[in-house]
Amino acid sequence: GDVRLWGGRFADGPSEALARLSASVHFDWRLAPYDIAGSRAHARVLHTAGLLTAEELERMLAGLDRLEADVADGSFTGTVADEDVHTALERGLLERLGPDLGGKLRAGRSRNDQVATLFRMYLRDHARIIGGLITDLQEALTGLAEAHPDVAMPGRTHLQHAQPVLFAHHVLAHVQALGRDAERLRQWDARTAVSPYGSGALAGSSLGLDPEAVAADLGFEHGSAANSIDGTASRDFVAEFAFITAMIGVDLSRIAEEVIIWNTKEFSFVTLHDAFSTGSSIMPQKKNPDIAELARGKSGRLIGNLTGLLATLKALPLAYNRDLQEDKEPVFDSCDQLEVLLPAFTGMMATLTVNRERMAELAPAGFSLATDIAEWLVRRGVPFRVAHEVAGACVKECERVGIELEELTDEQFAAISPHLTPEVRGVLNVPGALASRGGRGGTAPAAVAAQLAEVKADLVKQ
Ligand code: ARG
Repeated sequence: GDVRLWGGRFADGPSEALARLSASVHFDWRLAPYDIAGSRAHARVLHTAGLLTAEELERMLAGLDRLEADVADGSFTGTVADEDVHTALERGLLERLGPDLGGKLRAGRSRNDQVATLFRMYLRDHARIIGGLITDLQEALTGLAEAHPDVAMPGRTHLQHAQPVLFAHHVLAHVQALGRDAERLRQWDARTAVSPYGSGALAGSSLGLDPEAVAADLGFEHGSAANSIDGTASRDFVAEFAFITAMIGVDLSRIAEEVIIWNTKEFSFVTLHDAFSTGSSIMPQKKNPDIAELARGKSGRLIGNLTGLLATLKALPLAYNRDLQEDKEPVFDSCDQLEVLLPAFTGMMATLTVNRERMAELAPAGFSLATDIAEWLVRRGVPFRVAHEVAGACVKECERVGIELEELTDEQFAAISPHLTPEVRGVLNVPGALASRGGRGGTAPAAVAAQLAEVKADLVKQ
């Protein structure tokens, strides 16, 4: 029989071409458990409003329980003829309860307020799943930092040697970024805790239903939508979710790119665990950083999901338009991608080995202690403008002779500037350079230890 929810005024059923275009059940089926939860809450307010007797409510809830079990074990599924998940589940309920009772549930609700509500519920659940996976990654990175409290590495700007930093400091920089991503998810979750159920198609309901009761029933901490038009038409919660997931992808891609570089023969800073790297089908020696590359690649896909969605929403008039059916696949995909990527990424980071000797050896290379000469001069009262010039002249001389800064003789120092007494050599070593940056947020071992303690305390709260 015809399962459409809107056949009354039509003489003909939909063409096959339309049915195929219109169908969303193959991708919105994952909303089924939320749809059933929404139906339970809706049945209860129909009862409160006097539109279902106590006995009808009981049978309705029992029917929804059976339907839920049949959906869960796969014995009931939607088909292309059902158009969408809401239609399919209505058919399922009618099949189980008969048309007289089953046909009562639709009163006072529309697929427009349903889908807006269920989509929020789905994304809120997945925001928590993704948040948990980010916490796992933060913990792996924090463990990596903690296991290497004293390893120096070349800190870079423009990918050029800049100043020595602690490896732990560098790793914790990524943990900080991920912490903000996790915080964004939590703030988004709180902002999205508003239920559109009861908004109807766009204007609310004349049946005296209580949207606040539905909201409470469905776990929306901040109640029901203040405006039924906004409730059914707004998708900024989807766009914001797509942004946060894209940002997570971008943050992962920045770690990924470093792992890829660090893992090259030329850098040789890290070695990936066999279980988290791949081989080549032709080159027997290869061990490739595929997880990092997939992270880098998927970040582009996550950005695409965001921009596609924004383009769909742009200039869309209020209230519901069928364009909005295009809102789900991109963010479902963003959830799926991150949920499959993050565990692998965390495994890769948790198991990689750090080549401390190699990192430490390169930490002072590229004249990365030149700033320390300049700041040493400043501490002795030399204006920074002059100090910068003098330190630059040291680098120039080293490049000319082909030596490192600490290899300059007392005579060479003195020839460059009378301010450069032999004591300058005291700052020309990596431990000294690191230890001197002891302010909050600096790279000194003590400052990094304090940062690590803060991060760990935050992770416990998160
Ligand atoms: N499947 C639609 C969506 O995902 C909901 C149905 C609303 N359809 C309608 N003709 N009002 O947005």
